[in-house]
Amino acid sequence: LAATTYQAESATISHGLVESNHSGYTGSGFVNYDNETGSYVEFSATAPAAGSATLTFRYANGTTTNRPMTITVNGVTATTNLAFPGTGAWTTWQTATTTVTLAAGTNRVRATATTSNGGPNLDKLDV
Ligand code: GCU
Ligand code: CA
Ligand code: CA
Repeated sequence: LAATTYQAESATISHGLVESNHSGYTGSGFVNYDNETGSYVEFSATAPAAGSATLTFRYANGTTTNRPMTITVNGVTATTNLAFPGTGAWTTWQTATTTVTLAAGTNRVRATATTSNGGPNLDKLDV
């Protein structure tokens, strides 16, 4: 089954900004998380049936410090401190993946920064 793409710049953003000043993103930009604990992006992801799904987050982190984020699905923690290590430059984009359980229909998939550095710059989520 082909992945469905959810652009971060179209998601619900809490304490972050849509920007496009670093090249290589897809869609129309990316989310620059505010550099603080608790900033998040929440996607509305549709699953045809309940079950396991791989979440692939495309991001850039131009620092040398990991920017972990906790992933919740429908308000329940699915992955604690998923690693978003440095990618070498803000224009270099890589992926971080985790496997979660989705419900049939619409799911709220939230990626929340867990350190005071905030999250990475987030381009999109593929499910
Ligand atoms: C730089 C960069 C931003 C990034 C920020 C950060 O300001 O231009 O895109 O979000 O660093 O450290 O989070
Ligand atoms: Ca930032
Ligand atoms: Ca994007």
